[in-house]
Amino acid sequence: MTETSYLTALRESYDTVAADYLRLVRTPAELDPLSRAMLAAFAEAVRTDGLGPVADLGCGPGLVTAHLADLGVAAIGVDVSPKMIELARQGFPHLRFTVGSMTALSIPDDELGGILAYYSTHHTPPELLPVVYAEFRRTLAPGGHLMLTGYVGDSECVRPTQAYGGHPVSYESHLLPVDRIAGLLSRAGLVVTARLVQEPDPGTTRRIATFLARKPDRNPDRSPGRP
Ligand SMILES: C[S@@+](CC[C@H](N)C(=O)[O-])C[C@H]1O[C@@H](n2cnc3c(N)ncnc32)[C@H](O)[C@@H]1O
Repeated sequence: MTETSYLTALRESYDTVAADYLRLVRTPAELDPLSRAMLAAFAEAVRTDGLGPVADLGCGPGLVTAHLADLGVAAIGVDVSPKMIELARQGFPHLRFTVGSMTALSIPDDELGGILAYYSTHHTPPELLPVVYAEFRRTLAPGGHLMLTGYVGDSECVRPTQAYGGHPVSYESHLLPVDRIAGLLSRAGLVVTARLVQEPDPGTTRRIATFLARKPDRNPDRSPGRP
């Protein structure tokens, strides 16, 4: 899939499912305690360092963006689906949401104190992940935090024909091994500081991994891992 065809398929698919996605998706309050704890730890790290706002990339209808804002961080949302952004703006008119792709962000260099990619990078064709991770590194401030959560697997590519209430979709999901994702993050110049792998929820088959990473600080005394 080329970058253009993958983004077109994503946009069309998520525009189609957006209303039912919002109806069906678990709210942050309904997440398991460990997932909520990871989000809280990420928000605390961003708040403590105070390096800039958090961009929730692939924010969908904005539920997690609003959760981050409730946790005390300045949060903005970006999504490639205009329909998702419309729903996010309706639901959370006090927050800023923009249409855009994480393959080419309209965000200046070194701007962000944090990036959250929550179940939003698994549709990316693996050959484009270096582009996405390079955008993460470019837009994060030195010392800025990344939290990336998503499905992992043995490199299988899944092509569902319908989703979220039976709507037709044409996107792909790429379930990459944990080590491959961590390796690509490192190669993009991000320092992976933690990985958490969660076994599938009851009734589901996909494992979920969360990575915490940082862009190296300009001041080596404040580099990741300092006690
Ligand atoms: C499964 S939904 C997750 C939405 C939200 N993060 C949540 O947890 O509710 C995936 C979202 O990622 C967005 N997305 C996927 N790839 C993207 C890209 N390259 N740039 C921006 N958004 C993207 C999709 O449009 C979709 O809204």
